[in-house]
Amino acid sequence: MGIPRAQKKQEVWTFPEVFSAQSALQTAGKWRTHLNTARLVVEVGSGRGQFLIEYARLAGADTGFVGIERKSVRVWSAVQFCRAHSVNTRIRFIIGDAQQIDQWFAPEEVDELWIQFPDPVPTPGKWHRRLTALPFLEKYHRILRRGGTLHIKTDEDWFLDFTIASIEKSPLQIVEVRRDMHRRRPDEGPLSLWTEYERQHVQHGREIYYVQVRKP
Ligand SMILES: C[S@@+](CC[C@H](N)C(=O)[O-])C[C@H]1O[C@@H](n2cnc3c(N)ncnc32)[C@H](O)[C@@H]1O
Repeated sequence: MGIPRAQKKQEVWTFPEVFSAQSALQTAGKWRTHLNTARLVVEVGSGRGQFLIEYARLAGADTGFVGIERKSVRVWSAVQFCRAHSVNTRIRFIIGDAQQIDQWFAPEEVDELWIQFPDPVPTPGKWHRRLTALPFLEKYHRILRRGGTLHIKTDEDWFLDFTIASIEKSPLQIVEVRRDMHRRRPDEGPLSLWTEYERQHVQHGREIYYVQVRKP
């Protein structure tokens, strides 16, 4: 029998790889030193961490990773996977709501941000909760270094349109929009990697959309 959810919810807070929303505040501006890496990659809505783990194995020792995820049981699973793949020294997780992201990272601290298959939040009155709504983009702009990149993937065409419209109102610049990501090549670095949800969407025949954004 597996470990009960209630036990995972408690145990996850004892993992040294895990930060609470409160403890992450103390690490703002110090993530690279903490991880002993030159570059910092952050994923918002990292789920069970599959993408970060595969990216860490691809990237080598000079890149550190932080996953932000509000569901603690998913973070529990992510930490188990990190340990199993021996990449736990370079990956950390913050359990909390990404609305606080600009308090967890100092201005210009982050080299790359990833948002992949975020909950689309279709209710019109709740648009501000979408992870690509303008208030979020302004926070991402603050923590990204100049020339830093934000990568966004979704399987919802309306969410792609919403995201593009938000970016156009923000200080960020669109570099590229791709509507046929299932055709991407296997030699495109982290862009070649598939997330857990992406695999499911592709199996169900859904299209994958991608936007690359830059902080000028
Ligand atoms: C559909 S899942 C995708 C997970 C992963 N990115 C993937 O592609 O496999 C979206 C994840 O984002 C997390 N999430 C959504 N909004 C969030 C927020 N405001 N702060 C932190 N996590 C959030 C959810 O808890 C969920 O685990």
